[in-house]
Amino acid sequence: MARVVSGIRPTGKLHLGNYFGAVKNFLKMQEEHDCFFFIADIHSLTTHPTPADLHNNVHQVLAEHLAMGVDPEKCALFVQSDVPAISELYTYMNMNAYIGELERSTSFKDKIRTQKSNINAGLLTYPVLMAVDILVHHAEMVPVGKDQQQHLEMTRTFANRFNHMYGTDYFKEPQAYSSTGELVKVPGLTAQGKMSKSSGDADTIMFDEDEKGLRKKIMRAVTDNGPTEPGEPKSEGLQNLFDIMELVSDRSTIEHFDALHTEATIRYGDLKKQLAEDVVHFVAPIKEKIDHYKQDTAALAKAARIGAEKANESAEKTLKEVREIIGFKKF
Ligand code: ADP
Ligand code: TRP
Repeated sequence: MARVVSGIRPTGKLHLGNYFGAVKNFLKMQEEHDCFFFIADIHSLTTHPTPADLHNNVHQVLAEHLAMGVDPEKCALFVQSDVPAISELYTYMNMNAYIGELERSTSFKDKIRTQKSNINAGLLTYPVLMAVDILVHHAEMVPVGKDQQQHLEMTRTFANRFNHMYGTDYFKEPQAYSSTGELVKVPGLTAQGKMSKSSGDADTIMFDEDEKGLRKKIMRAVTDNGPTEPGEPKSEGLQNLFDIMELVSDRSTIEHFDALHTEATIRYGDLKKQLAEDVVHFVAPIKEKIDHYKQDTAALAKAARIGAEKANESAEKTLKEVREIIGFKKF
């Protein structure tokens, strides 16, 4: 059983890609490890959300994760800003992070290009805050995608530098976690690669979408003109629909349409109808739960409170020890 930390960006509603790529991993990890999952609302301030948006996004993400089965009894599911020790440790760790290395971070370089009008100091020190998220709970494993590998590398640098500076082995190096290799990448509906909010509304199967909307979207998914000869390879759009079927449909359904494709007798309309049916069947009960949790503020408050208690206990212990190591002593 290892200590795991993972941050969730509160950037709006979840789609099928988020579920199979991230949330499902949480469900597995909470059964096997000592997990701290948190909604990274302090990080999100770098984009200057309005107070109402900030709150609504946290509310949404919390409701969605509970609805999808993240269990506050099995893990610590908390809101980052409910844990003040994180901000204090961030202040201390900032003193040991150098401008040069922060400026070289790819995420910062990306932001300089894409967020020209708001290049704030929080963006520069984002990797320090992320390191603190991880180190404050002494995480051994961090489930991260490729885009976050550099941040994890920087976390190890900051941990080692702290240890070296104070002649201790207090912080351990966290490692990237991959749940036995099988990282799922869910394709979108518009044949533009992985399902992503940034690829537009038509690309994503959202959990808050009603049945009619979902069916319409799937019927309009990008495919091709159909196979003209038996044994033709599948186009990207068609392959994507088969890949989504792998996640939501029965084996027999997939085999049925695969055989029709090989014979070149497939009708994409039939395939899409069946896929829409299976997607609706998958999404509807989760949507219902999300709607329920969004209304049930008492359940959300309870979950956040339990999570904050667990996270504060762990973070305050670390902070107390760090303060002593640094040399802040009581008179
Ligand atoms: P988006 O690309 O829609 O903005 P995010 O970047 O907010 O999604 O992703 C949040 C989490 O969901 C990350 O852990 C990311 O790896 C995962 N994720 C997002 N899209 C997919 C996808 N299509 N397939 C697998 N995982 C995904
Ligand atoms: N930077 C991560 C992302 O963009 C979110 C995050 C913040 C995080 N703090 C973390 C992830 C700590 C893992 C551990 O997705």
